Amino acid sequence: NQPSHHVAVFGAGYIGLVAGACFAELGHSVTVRDIQPERISTLRAGSVPLYEPGLEPLITRNRERLHFTLDADEAVRDAEVVYVCVDTPPTASGDADLSRVWAVIDALKGASHLAAVVMKSTVPVGTGARIRTALDSVGLGHVPYASNPEFTAEGQAVEDFLRPDRVVIGTDDEAAAKLLRDLHRGVDGPIEIMDVASAEMVKLTANALLATRISFTNEIAALCEATGADITRVTRATGMDHRLGPYFMRAGLGYGGSCFPKDSRALRALASNSGFSFQLLSAVIDVNDLQPRRAVKRLSQELAGLAGRTVTLLGMTFKPGTDDMREAPSTVVAARLLAEGARVRCWDPVAPPCHGEPWASTERCSDLAEAFTDADAALIVTEWPHLREADWRRLRGLMRGAVLFDGRNLMAPEEMRELGYTYLSVGRPSARPGEG
Ligand code: UDX
Repeated sequence: NQPSHHVAVFGAGYIGLVAGACFAELGHSVTVRDIQPERISTLRAGSVPLYEPGLEPLITRNRERLHFTLDADEAVRDAEVVYVCVDTPPTASGDADLSRVWAVIDALKGASHLAAVVMKSTVPVGTGARIRTALDSVGLGHVPYASNPEFTAEGQAVEDFLRPDRVVIGTDDEAAAKLLRDLHRGVDGPIEIMDVASAEMVKLTANALLATRISFTNEIAALCEATGADITRVTRATGMDHRLGPYFMRAGLGYGGSCFPKDSRALRALASNSGFSFQLLSAVIDVNDLQPRRAVKRLSQELAGLAGRTVTLLGMTFKPGTDDMREAPSTVVAARLLAEGARVRCWDPVAPPCHGEPWASTERCSDLAEAFTDADAALIVTEWPHLREADWRRLRGLMRGAVLFDGRNLMAPEEMRELGYTYLSVGRPSARPGEG
């Protein structure tokens, strides 16, 4: 018999929809508000405007407790809690653009019945204090404010929300803390309550530390290449130390997506704006920038130049299981290959049609056979499971050349060699026909 609350969620993007659907699943009544009419009509028609496994069934199952509206007043009328889930894109100075957040606060004018305004969007540390002032200016100075950052990874967002490692709640108001605890009843994970600034800091710290593990691994991988060691063996055994664990130690073309690149830059900017240089984080960011460029350089060396070569990119999204192209390493790889004069083809099972450069100058293939036909080289950018299951013998036969650069260490070097590939990967010895 959990208490049921009425929640208004502002923003029907990835974060808002996952939070809204999950709160409905927990038994609360939820109204999701967005300013985009197509988005709201799609949701009302029962479809989900983004690719996230598990979200559509959750929305369908909780249809009676989930409402979608364009009207801010309607969303707020019966709500006890407002969740701010709008996007906060980076501006030219590297700071977050909070204009959509301020628009939400403006839209709350007159909603003096609210018991809490909660921030789920990723915002700079210190935003809490500015929001308090903004709430005050619309006559809501008495409404408690809380920060409740999200730690969900794309492709497993629903699971991460309902069974999280932890829920972080930052607020200085006891009643708001209790309300948010109630709201999360049924969530299978510990709840950590703290002050607002610390909650804002946890999100950036966690993402920066995970990004650090990846860049650290990628540097060790470069050393493995220089010494003949195999990064997959090194990280497997290293990660068996229970103090380290096996996670986020996969070498590759670097991290992408909507969080790691943005949050690591945001944390570095926060340090700089506070008057010191976060050197370790700068190195993490540099290593990540290097990864796709280094891969193109190695491919160029293997092919004795890229001009006039046909190179196929396998996977475009920043990771498998999502249609998200934000900060995808594939974009840098494609741009670099084109700049070196290569002809670039790409294949991806779900990436949306990508407009603008570099994609306008690449050729999108609908299947792997088309992508491999007459290619001089293929480069695995995203570790889609389709690739593991592909008929690599047949694909090899379609190619003009024989180079396979595995940017995610997906395949077994010996097997690829036996199929006739010149196989390169990240931090593992290369395998060439006739050698070994
Ligand atoms: C991440 C965090 O995991 C999540 O907690 C946070 O809320 C948002 O950012 P997400 O961006 O969806 O989630 O993807 P994640 O699976 O964490 O991968 C991020 C990037 O790191 C991907 O580009 C992935 O390919 C790369 N990665 C991950 C590696 O290169 N090596 C690894 O070992 C792990």
